[in-house]
Amino acid sequence: RGCKLVGCGSAVPRLQISNDDLSKIVDTSDEWISVRTGIRNRRILSGKDSLTDLAAEAAKKALQMAEVDPDDVDLVLLCTSTPEDLFGSAPQIQKALGCKNNPLAYDITAACSGFILGLVSASCYIRGGGFNNVLVIGADALSRYVDWTDRGSCILFGDAAGAVLVQACDSEEDGLFAFDLHSDGEGQRHLRATMNENEKDHELGTNGSLLGLLPKGSSYSCIQMNGKEVFRFAVRVVPQSIELALEKAGLPGSSIDWLLLHQANQRIIDAVAARLELPSERVISNLANYGNTSAASIPLALDEAVRKGKVKAGHKIATAGFGAGLTWGSAIIRW
Ligand code: ACO
Repeated sequence: RGCKLVGCGSAVPRLQISNDDLSKIVDTSDEWISVRTGIRNRRILSGKDSLTDLAAEAAKKALQMAEVDPDDVDLVLLCTSTPEDLFGSAPQIQKALGCKNNPLAYDITAACSGFILGLVSASCYIRGGGFNNVLVIGADALSRYVDWTDRGSCILFGDAAGAVLVQACDSEEDGLFAFDLHSDGEGQRHLRATMNENEKDHELGTNGSLLGLLPKGSSYSCIQMNGKEVFRFAVRVVPQSIELALEKAGLPGSSIDWLLLHQANQRIIDAVAARLELPSERVISNLANYGNTSAASIPLALDEAVRKGKVKAGHKIATAGFGAGLTWGSAIIRW
């Protein structure tokens, strides 16, 4: 039993923020941001915009492309680190899609590696669990956790959602050749948004009451990032991971039609492509328009490349995610 990608879709918020716009709120410039990152614009959720709605829209488009009825979906995996419900937003997407058979729906939290983990999870459910149609959605709104006074990080992120439908097929048609996944909790200090310590009250309350000992509700800090360390980490581990996955797949790098990395920084993408000796014509990049959209970036870029006719049926793609956790992983897939 194999699995293949049969549809994709994406959705982005309406509000666009350019580098020039950002230069009005922090000490930066279009030149600095575009030279150091390749980013020119990003989309940001505003007002009452909902990430869950955006994710449902991307998923709907993937189902339409695949010509699969929502009632035939048997699993919805929402890869996100910014759910709108602490208990998970995936069931709300299942509801929005109108999947009548109550398919399982849950969230996967792995920052910018989330989509790769979702893809691999989908393949395991299909190969070992008898599942037939699995929606894998990457959606994040990191703008809600950005410190808009920190010019070292606020320039990087944007909000978006992207989705693919992974479907069971015969093993000859299998579209996920191999994968390689890792994490390193040691590196968490370089990139994190942790629970606010000051929300916890460890002091005894008035008259030593039990209430004073109990947590007071919680929130998360803004993203704290050591950009240089994250950069070094990505450039070191991503080529290694892709090389490992290619080896497991028994495929030479030259057989890869496209390199599709998590869209974090054009300099990271270029460095990895150079290490893998892949020319720029075989590299997919759209971060100039959207910035780093975390778990959404890979399916967002894939959807754009498929709809533009760049990625065609049968093309082999080396894809990799990396980010907070730290987590990273790659997969060799066929569109
Ligand atoms: N505008 C102008 N100047 C800036 C800006 C800015 N937006 N940000 C930093 N600078 C300044 C710094 O203050 C520093 O000035 P100094 O030399 O006077 O001290 C100088 O520019 C150089 O700063 P660096 O941090 O060394 O710049 P660097 O070349 O490393 O680029 C960047 C910073 C773009 C953040 C880069 O390190 C990067 O992209 N790292 C990877 C980050 C990443 O991808 N994170 C997300 C991972 S995905 C996830 O899971 C969330």
